[in-house]
Amino acid sequence: MKIGIIGAGNIGSVLALRFVERGHQVKIGNSRGPGTLGEVERETGATSAELKEVVKDADVIVVTIPEAKVPNLPKDLFAGVPASTVVIDTGNYYPRQRDGRIAGIEKGSTESRWVEEQIGRPVVKAFNNIYADHLRNKGTPAGTPKRIALPVAGDDAKAKAVVMKLVDEVGFDAVDAGTLDDSWRQQPATPVYTADRDAEGVRAALQQADPVRKPEWRATDRSPGDFDNPA
Ligand SMILES: NC(=O)c1ccc[n+]([C@@H]2O[C@H](COP(=O)([O-])OP(=O)(O)OC[C@H]3O[C@@H](n4cnc5c(N)ncnc54)[C@H](OP(=O)(O)O)[C@@H]3O)[C@@H](O)[C@H]2O)c1
Repeated sequence: MKIGIIGAGNIGSVLALRFVERGHQVKIGNSRGPGTLGEVERETGATSAELKEVVKDADVIVVTIPEAKVPNLPKDLFAGVPASTVVIDTGNYYPRQRDGRIAGIEKGSTESRWVEEQIGRPVVKAFNNIYADHLRNKGTPAGTPKRIALPVAGDDAKAKAVVMKLVDEVGFDAVDAGTLDDSWRQQPATPVYTADRDAEGVRAALQQADPVRKPEWRATDRSPGDFDNPA
């Protein structure tokens, strides 16, 4: 498939590497332009490009940038992208350390529903609950006992199936985590978040999740701080 990755940081780079290894054609972009992505190109085999080129003709687009930066994406970025293109959101809301206050999420929107509203396109939530380092190093072939599983949530069954196959290709079992309205079950602080559970464990963790956002995952008047001095 042709895969476009918006964001070339921890998650964007490792997904680019794994997708290229699986034979996909991958373009990747960031906010500063392809001239800044020589090392990412060398490490991953992906082609760096301006964002409008990254999304052009893509079968799958991955949005993997800090939550607070999503509104900074060009307003018309998805205008020419066909409805059949699958958009993956890997994002998490870190109000105290990074993102500051995002009113829609504080009011109760799931993080991915808020992302959908910003970009004007349906998304499938995936790859948000595993550390980038584990995504890079802990994938295993299908059938491996206790293989780590990742939840995948979205409203379109066909789009979700595409994403679940990609999850499997990069070394993880995929668990259907329901619709985007169910995706709070895989947000930060839930039992499945960064827990590296197998498929059975992921299903159990999704059921055990508490819908109430924990105080430490809400913004304060001083947000954002940084990861060492959260506000
Ligand atoms: N790190 C993890 O272990 C992990 C795990 C799961 C999910 N996540 C989530 O996945 C998302 C990405 O995390 P990350 O750790 O990969 O982030 P990161 O390492 O900080 O990288 C962020 C990337 O986003 C790009 N970016 C920022 N604003 C942009 C814009 N307006 N247009 C295009 N690109 C833009 C940055 O490019 P520039 O440098 O050019 O600005 C950079 O390449 C976050 O929501 C995070 O919470 C992270």
